[in-house]
Amino acid sequence: MPVHVIDHPVAQDALVTLRDQRTAPDAFRRAARRISAVIVGEALRGIPTTAVTVQTPLEPAAGHRLAGDVVVVPVLRAGLGMLDAALELVPSARVGYLGLQRDETTAIASQYYAKLPADMNESFVLLVDPMLATGGSSVAALERLTKAGARHVRIACIVAAPEGIAVVEAAHPDVHIYTPVIDRALTPHKFILPGLGDFGDRLYGTA
Ligand code: PRP
Ligand code: URA
Repeated sequence: MPVHVIDHPVAQDALVTLRDQRTAPDAFRRAARRISAVIVGEALRGIPTTAVTVQTPLEPAAGHRLAGDVVVVPVLRAGLGMLDAALELVPSARVGYLGLQRDETTAIASQYYAKLPADMNESFVLLVDPMLATGGSSVAALERLTKAGARHVRIACIVAAPEGIAVVEAAHPDVHIYTPVIDRALTPHKFILPGLGDFGDRLYGTA
């Protein structure tokens, strides 16, 4: 099963801050950046590199540089909380945006915005969306990315629900999911339990 649970103490520490209802938006944003760096770092394992040699002050040293095109795609709004960390790790990445909004009653996601880079066929595409709840947003995003030609896509999220993982896996069995935690369940209103509430609202103070 292509789900990678990232068991890292820094991620666990930041996750507790995100879950804590007392965390204000500034601290929430910092914790989101911190946890995203760990998750995205793991999700980028195996991306293409090229061998290089540089001259240290003492002698030549062999190493590797990132090679190939990386595209980061945050799902608006909440995915923006993960974008800066991704761009710290891959400053040359191209960025595509997908705007998806869940209906408050049905929890069904609909797209209101899309701006994706051209020529993603050979790119390594990382979809960043912190909450994988019903999986509806991720599946809609994956379909949009596939339509735009993306063939190598991974998902990085901060909290995943078993239901959402199953839905993504059924629709896109080849897509790997990177998350530090799989939570217990969904509420009748499709919020993750124990979760952290509405990520976008907590990130931007709009609750
Ligand atoms: C949240 C979250 C995900 C989506 C996950 O977005 O950021 O995109 O819900 O839920 P799902 O797996 O059930 O589709 P929301 O629609 O609340 O929009 P926002 O990011 O603008 O707050
Ligand atoms: N989106 C959120 O922001 N939180 C949830 O618990 C589920 C979807």
